[in-house]
Amino acid sequence: MRPYVFINVAASVDGKISDEKRRQIRISCKEDMERVDLLRANSDAIMVGIGTVLSDNPHLTVKSPALREMRVQRGLSPNPLRVVVDSRARTPLNAKVLDSEAETLIAVSELASEDRIAALRKKARVFVEGKEKVDLAALMEYLYSIGIRRVMVEGGARLNHALIAKGLVDEIVVYYGSIIIGNGPTIADGPSFQPPIPLKLVEVSRVGSGVLAVWKLSYD
Ligand SMILES: NC(=O)c1ccc[n+]([C@@H]2O[C@H](COP(=O)([O-])OP(=O)(O)OC[C@H]3O[C@@H](n4cnc5c(N)ncnc54)[C@H](OP(=O)(O)O)[C@@H]3O)[C@@H](O)[C@H]2O)c1
Repeated sequence: MRPYVFINVAASVDGKISDEKRRQIRISCKEDMERVDLLRANSDAIMVGIGTVLSDNPHLTVKSPALREMRVQRGLSPNPLRVVVDSRARTPLNAKVLDSEAETLIAVSELASEDRIAALRKKARVFVEGKEKVDLAALMEYLYSIGIRRVMVEGGARLNHALIAKGLVDEIVVYYGSIIIGNGPTIADGPSFQPPIPLKLVEVSRVGSGVLAVWKLSYD
């Protein structure tokens, strides 16, 4: 068993999620950031790859005090569990995802050194599975076993691709900001899927100055 998994990503009109140096670009508008905050508040876990931690240093917490309070009223912690997919345990000890505002799980593989694991364990839970890369299916099963039912994946490009490739994604939510970036990582970076993965469009709407589109994946 695994949780319901959805990817939320902000992309330019040409499908890029940052620039060619993998530097973060402001793609979302205020209305979209409020939408993202609500999605976070309604999730049990927020997952990112180590590439995103190293380039963006995201906090991955719910920003709105009202939404944090809504979670507490439901008997939940103010913030969802933060999950970093990080084979070699490279998450910097001063990364914002390791602060005390929310709980964090770092998923590593057998490549991670005992020293790094021990250092991370002082600030987070550490899950070890996979020979080189993190075993994503095992990670999802583990998350389910600890009560996580809804996982929001917030990138980046390589993690999105790997999760889709493994059949571990149920839904993709893309906010298209009204910009064109040119070269840069895409919504899903990796080898071409042969054949391409078919999606079912379930929602399109205007949000602020951009377009929101939601697709479902079906693996049967
Ligand atoms: N616009 C948006 O919505 C948005 C959101 C998030 C990020 N971004 C952008 O995306 C870029 C980062 O994306 P990225 O592709 O460089 O990094 P990423 O997807 O965040 O992280 C990828 C890394 O995760 C690790 N990993 C561990 N196990 C894995 C597995 N089984 N499959 C795949 N990866 C695994 C790998 O590094 P190790 O082998 O070292 O563990 C891999 O290189 C940044 O430029 C950031 O600004 C944009």
